[in-house]
Amino acid sequence: MRRISYILGALVAMTGVVAYMAHASEQAAGAASPMFGIKLPAGYRDWKLISVAHEAGNNNDLRAVLGNDLAIKAYREETLPFPDGSIIARLAWAYTTSEENNKVFGRAQSFVAGPPINVQFMVKDSKKYAATGGWGFAQFKDGVPLEDAALAPCFPCHVPIKSRDYVFTHYSP
Ligand code: HEC
Repeated sequence: MRRISYILGALVAMTGVVAYMAHASEQAAGAASPMFGIKLPAGYRDWKLISVAHEAGNNNDLRAVLGNDLAIKAYREETLPFPDGSIIARLAWAYTTSEENNKVFGRAQSFVAGPPINVQFMVKDSKKYAATGGWGFAQFKDGVPLEDAALAPCFPCHVPIKSRDYVFTHYSP
């Protein structure tokens, strides 16, 4: 009986992996994040820098916030609310000690961006996303979008910064 349940368990696990893999390849073909229907924006890695931040705690990451041209223009001209078409990206990497740099400094002081964690986006479309302050939210890990249910907490947590159109990050000159 134990053996059978072990085999059954293994079968269930394998089915899960196969289902996950099918899902992942579907995403690679350009599937959208379902709740807001946002696809990984093309060329986001080349967008201009808004600012950087470090989160400690459970995140323990280094992050860069980038904007597409419309978002950068709005930031620089201090235009609020952000115009439709603005996209803000938040890239995060593991907060990692650099032994290589520490050797040069002669002491432990260097922390750098390690492996990527995920990328988050806020996409402005005041009509389509009227229910969430005009912003659509998305998160991708290795190009795979986060499922619907996991996107639900995004907007509520950005509500405290409604006065700056739900965007926390300040522009670093
Ligand atoms: C616990 C509250 C909280 C949740 C939940 C949350 N955010 Fe944020 N978000 C923040 C804070 C605070 C910042 C600014 C500091 C930082 O970058 O860590 C931020 C920054 C951002 C930024 C950069 C623009 C800005 O507002 O500064 C984007 C893009 C973003 N979040 C997207 C998302 C997405 C997508 C989700 C859901 C998957 C999400 N956030 C969930 C609190 C939250």
